[in-house]
Amino acid sequence: MSEARPDSDHVARNRAAWDAQAADHVATGERNWAAGEPTWGIWDVPESELRLLPPADELAGADVIELGCGTGYVSGWLAHAGARPVAIDNSEAQLETARRLQRKHGIEFPLIHGNAERVPRPDASFDLAISEYGASIWCDPYLWIPEAARLLRPGGRLIILVGSVLQMLCSPDEPEEPVESRLLRSQFGLHRIEWPDDGSVEFHLPHGELIALLRREGFEIEGLTEVRPPTDATTRYEWMTLEWARRWPCEEVWKARKRSD
Ligand SMILES: C[S@@+](CC[C@H](N)C(=O)[O-])C[C@H]1O[C@@H](n2cnc3c(N)ncnc32)[C@H](O)[C@@H]1O
Repeated sequence: MSEARPDSDHVARNRAAWDAQAADHVATGERNWAAGEPTWGIWDVPESELRLLPPADELAGADVIELGCGTGYVSGWLAHAGARPVAIDNSEAQLETARRLQRKHGIEFPLIHGNAERVPRPDASFDLAISEYGASIWCDPYLWIPEAARLLRPGGRLIILVGSVLQMLCSPDEPEEPVESRLLRSQFGLHRIEWPDDGSVEFHLPHGELIALLRREGFEIEGLTEVRPPTDATTRYEWMTLEWARRWPCEEVWKARKRSD
C-alpha cells in the first residue's frame, strides 16, 4: 500500500467528499461482493446482458488495474475470474470497506491508497484498465487517460462505465435533484462539474473530445454502448428515473484498446 498526498484541488476535494460518504456505500459493496454474476451501473445490468468484460479466457491470468475501486467489488469479481487485479482509490474510508470485504470473501489483491492520475506502478504493467464510476468520472480525463495509456501494455484494453454526456447536460446544479428532460448545461466547454452540496468535482467530456483524447493517447476505440435498463430494473438513486433512462442513455460504456505500433 502506498500513501499519496492529494496533489490538486479536485483530488483533495474528492477525497474529503468520498471519505465522508463512504458509509453510504457499504451496503452496495457488500451486495456486489456477494453477487454471483457482475452487474453494472445504477441499473445493475447483468454482465450476461452488457458484455462489458473481455472474454473469460482473456481475463484468466490478466494483469488488471482498477482505477477508483471504491469498495473493490469489481476487482473482487475479476480476481474470482482468475485475473490479477491491483486496485487504487483516493479514499481511505472506501478502502477500509474494501479490505474488510476482501477478508470476508477470502480474496486478496493489492489496494493502493492514491490518485489514479498518478499510479505508483511501472509503464506497461497491465493488460486491462477498468473503471466503473471511478477515475472515469472523478479524475481529470486529460490526466487519467494518459496515465492509463502509460500503464497498459500494447494491445491492452481500457473499459469504463460513466454517466452519459446527455445526463450531465440535463442535470440540475443540485446533485440530488432529478435529472430533467431538457438541456440545462452547455455541451461546448463541458469538462469539470463542481457539485455544491459536498464540494466534489466530476469530469465529463463531449464525445468528440473524448474520442480525440483517446486517439491521441494511442487508443483505438472498439465500442460505445449506451446502457438501457433491463425490463425489471429498479435503482436506488433518486436523481434518475426509469422513465428518463428508458428514453435516453443515462450511462455509457466505452471500450478502447492500446495500439500495438
Ligand atoms: C462510485 S465509487 C466507484 C467504485 C464502484 N465501482 C462504485 O460504482 O461504487 C467512486 C470512487 O472513486 C474514487 N476516486 C475519486 N477520485 C479518485 C482519484 N483521484 N483517484 C482514485 N480514486 C478516486 C472515490 O474515492 C470513490 O471510492
